[in-house]
Amino acid sequence: MLRILSGVQPSGKLHLGNYFGAVKQHIALQNEGLCFYFIADYHAMTTIQDPQMLRDHTRDVALDYLALGLDPDKCIFFRQSDVPEVTELTWILSTVTNMGLRERAVSYKEKIDKGIEASVGLFTYPVLMAADILIYRSNVVPVGKDQVQHIEMTQDMAGKFNRAYGEIFPIPAFRLDKESKVLGTDGQKMSKSYGNTIEIFAEGKPLQKTVMSIVTDSKTVEEPKDPEQSNVFSLFSLFANETEKAEMAARFRAGGMGYGEAKKALLEKIDTYFAPARQRRKELAGNPNDVEDVLRKGAQRARAEAQLTMAQVRQAVGMKSTSVG
Ligand code: TRP
Repeated sequence: MLRILSGVQPSGKLHLGNYFGAVKQHIALQNEGLCFYFIADYHAMTTIQDPQMLRDHTRDVALDYLALGLDPDKCIFFRQSDVPEVTELTWILSTVTNMGLRERAVSYKEKIDKGIEASVGLFTYPVLMAADILIYRSNVVPVGKDQVQHIEMTQDMAGKFNRAYGEIFPIPAFRLDKESKVLGTDGQKMSKSYGNTIEIFAEGKPLQKTVMSIVTDSKTVEEPKDPEQSNVFSLFSLFANETEKAEMAARFRAGGMGYGEAKKALLEKIDTYFAPARQRRKELAGNPNDVEDVLRKGAQRARAEAQLTMAQVRQAVGMKSTSVG
């Protein structure tokens, strides 16, 4: 069975861009293979240094994914740090990681350019990511464009390791997430760093305020409008069926419909679409022990897989296959 793996950084509130760009497809993949999905809390430590924040964000991701339909009976859902073996593999892989390759990592260079002080952890980030992928002997890694280079580094490390020590790791392939065409409230691509997001678990007044704040041109209600030029229409299209889209487009072109009305229609769509997930999220949030339980069970399954791989790796490099316990 195909092994599919992806990590999610616990980075705060989920927005429409995350959902339509990645989360929705990751959840759909749970029917196409054995999925390993984990909350990348070790990775998050390169940016979050507040224990309460790390805990809160980690819990939020767990709630978000479970509420949106991730089924823990179908896939292995866990916290990265519950399988500490991955840090051992990180060390071992670092000995087959080419220094020059690492220095060219875009993700690292970008953070340095933004003035974020570099820790060795940030520098080693892709090696930990490779360990994540290889320790579960993954075949397919669904990621966004920004992570492709990391997967290529993983392929490189796996190849080098295999040539030195024998065929231990399958060479993983990446699978590009859908190029997210989700526009933010200001018309740029929706992204937390632009401050233009629409959160999917916001509701009521705050959500209404965000949707109503979507920037439009200053055409009056009567004036005809081009739906293709409108970010309100583009967002509405994410939720609407073909008939609804055609209807809204016709009304834009005919004139007589203002942006306010279109935004209200969008708000209604968002509310309807996410209503079941919001309900489910509240139920889950009220039972934190159940969520912990899901993560604990996930970690047990993941850890058993990781230990199998590590026994082979340790043996292959010349160590005892298990540490003396
Ligand atoms: N670095 C990834 C991100 O920021 C998260 C991640 C960590 C990951 N480990 C991974 C993704 C392994 C895929 C595979 O999005």
